[in-house]
Amino acid sequence: MSGVDALADLERHAGVAEGRYRVGLGQEEMGVAGDVEDVNSVALTALSRLLSEYNIDPNSIGRLEVGTETLVDKSKSTKTVLMSLFPENPDVEGVTTTNACYGGTAALLSSFLWVESSGWDGRYAVVVACDIAAYAAGPARPTCGAGAVALLVGRDAPLSFATPGLRATHASNEWDFYKPDHRVEYPTVDGKLSQTCYYKALESCYRSYADKQDALLTSSPSESVVDKFVATTPDFFVFHAPYNKLVQKSYGRLFLVDARRRREAAGGVVDPRDRELEPFLRMSPEDTYASRELEGILKRLSAPSYGRRLKDSSYASTRIGNTYAASVFFGIASLLDSGAVKPGDKVTVFSYGSGAMATMYELQAREPSSPTENFTLSGNRTKLKLRETLDCREKVAACELDYALNCRARMHNAGAPYSPCYPPSRLFPNTYYLTSVDDKFRRTYAVT
Ligand code: ACO
Repeated sequence: MSGVDALADLERHAGVAEGRYRVGLGQEEMGVAGDVEDVNSVALTALSRLLSEYNIDPNSIGRLEVGTETLVDKSKSTKTVLMSLFPENPDVEGVTTTNACYGGTAALLSSFLWVESSGWDGRYAVVVACDIAAYAAGPARPTCGAGAVALLVGRDAPLSFATPGLRATHASNEWDFYKPDHRVEYPTVDGKLSQTCYYKALESCYRSYADKQDALLTSSPSESVVDKFVATTPDFFVFHAPYNKLVQKSYGRLFLVDARRRREAAGGVVDPRDRELEPFLRMSPEDTYASRELEGILKRLSAPSYGRRLKDSSYASTRIGNTYAASVFFGIASLLDSGAVKPGDKVTVFSYGSGAMATMYELQAREPSSPTENFTLSGNRTKLKLRETLDCREKVAACELDYALNCRARMHNAGAPYSPCYPPSRLFPNTYYLTSVDDKFRRTYAVT
């Protein structure tokens, strides 16, 4: 991305109270993209780096799936733009999938299922999850961000689906965040509703997921089928991260779901461990969202485990902001980069996209049976260089966020032809950028 903005500066620039973005939202920095980068260019950058850093022959890829909600064309998919990196290999399945922040997860699941299926031809799949999150001026603007992640999917990987069929999905019809107005890049968003929809999707996925895990973990029919899998069972969690405060609060909600499940399994009797939560177990789930008292209790109960199981995965998102479809993958990258994950560890991932689609699944870290230098947990960590890269970004003045977004808004409405006003010289080496949009709206790209 072309810049980084410390949110303390942004608070001063926006004239809001000190701490509003850093403490209130739990964010530290933000990635900013001007008009010289678009979703195609950031996807090209991520994919070309994956291919070159890991020495992957483009001819060894048989499927390429993209997840994004930052559309620059209603028909021509970003996947087709990425095909310029496959000059000798047109035989690549997959397209771009869109559903708010969930597109990357849909892309991962279909790639994974392809590799697992009888229809697999032995080649790799690649998933590129990418978005430029731009909000109109107002309370959502400090939750902007931008980023792209490219993942290689194949067999014998250092991160695998722990139990391939074990997932839980929550799909429902919500109007929390959507993009109906094609004249603007920004979403129409009901911030409060989007938080509640996120909580509901998480609780629904978690409940169903915990039921399935309990059934799996229970060895005899006489054993209790509840309570084997609880919020402290996985070694790590990764949550979709619009902003860190929501992730922290959401994790606390899992402790309430655990208490509800115990009470239901005991025929309505509250488990002695859950006495403190008893009044809230009698409330309708809807009413619990507004309770500050409950929020405080859940925060206290979950804080030690949050620090151990979830904090590491929030690292990149607190420094980049919301990357929509790429968010959970930045979470996984952060965990790998932290060095905390060891072979055998299990990571429960929760992906949420407004509208709404959400899935919970579990990854397991492992040593590949025929490891090559690059395709191991430590090899991945070395290649990622996540902290170093984030540290190397240029810090820009807080007012540049508005300038960059105004530039993007101008591009959105400029028609064709268009030449970006941001200079590519500010980008990292080997970064793709938009050189021009010609009079037929065709976009061309170059590399720094
Ligand atoms: N110091 C410390 N904390 C502060 C300060 C301050 N000076 N001022 C406010 N706060 C706290 C508030 O008390 C509040 O805390 P709480 O979360 O514990 O209640 C928090 O900051 C947020 O403040 P609010 O007034 O509740 O909300 P705000 O107007 O800042 O808007 C929102 C936040 C709704 C998240 C907005 O940024 C938004 O709409 N974002 C986009 C939507 C979104 O990200 N949704 C999440 C799921 S969907 C998705 O991924 C897109």
